[in-house]
Amino acid sequence: MPDQSAHWNAVYESKAPTSVSWYQAYPKASLKAIDLIGAQDQPFLDVGGGASDLAAVLLERGWRDLTVLDISDAALAVQAQRLGDRAQEVVRIAANITEWVPPRAYGIWHDRAVFHFLTNAADRAAYVAALRVGVRPDGHVILATFAPDGPETCSGLPVRRYSAEGLAQELGDAFTLLHHWREVHQTPGGAEQPFTWAVFQRR
Ligand SMILES: C[S@@+](CC[C@H](N)C(=O)[O-])C[C@H]1O[C@@H](n2cnc3c(N)ncnc32)[C@H](O)[C@@H]1O
Repeated sequence: MPDQSAHWNAVYESKAPTSVSWYQAYPKASLKAIDLIGAQDQPFLDVGGGASDLAAVLLERGWRDLTVLDISDAALAVQAQRLGDRAQEVVRIAANITEWVPPRAYGIWHDRAVFHFLTNAADRAAYVAALRVGVRPDGHVILATFAPDGPETCSGLPVRRYSAEGLAQELGDAFTLLHHWREVHQTPGGAEQPFTWAVFQRR
């Protein structure tokens, strides 16, 4: 994949975080996944977390070991601004997930609407290689991508669309599919976007 940081920086520098198509007032489906896992305060990595409020909500729930990774510096700056006084409680990493080598293993790896941008098989293989290093044994992976009948593009970029079984194939034998469901996201502009949510556990 060509480095797309310029694309994403331009998005976060030109649009209000509440106006992008993936904006949600509350990260309901992510919390559903976390509650299904029954997780409390585990080392948590939000891959492509952007300006999402998920880290803020987890801080409110008492979580303490939170990392947000994003290809866009601008996204991370917006996120820090939204966190305000609590910004220093979250680790922010500017990196392309297909080039990043996790320095540690997390209890939960969360990705809402990032994996689906990896249209190139080599990038998906690199992502899964990072997953194998970055998720501890028995740790969990929460993945959300556009569903098979979802949009063909996101933020003007082409995406691949997945069923839960398709995601399980991509992750391979090292991860067991525990839960999956369909969510129809309402964009701020009023469009409907079907998502596949899937929760995996590392074997
Ligand atoms: C559709 S947005 C979703 C943001 C956030 N996960 C949410 O649910 O609000 C995709 C995010 O992934 C980031 N991103 C895209 N490609 C990436 C990559 N290869 N590595 C890391 N982050 C990436 C973008 O900068 C953007 O913040």
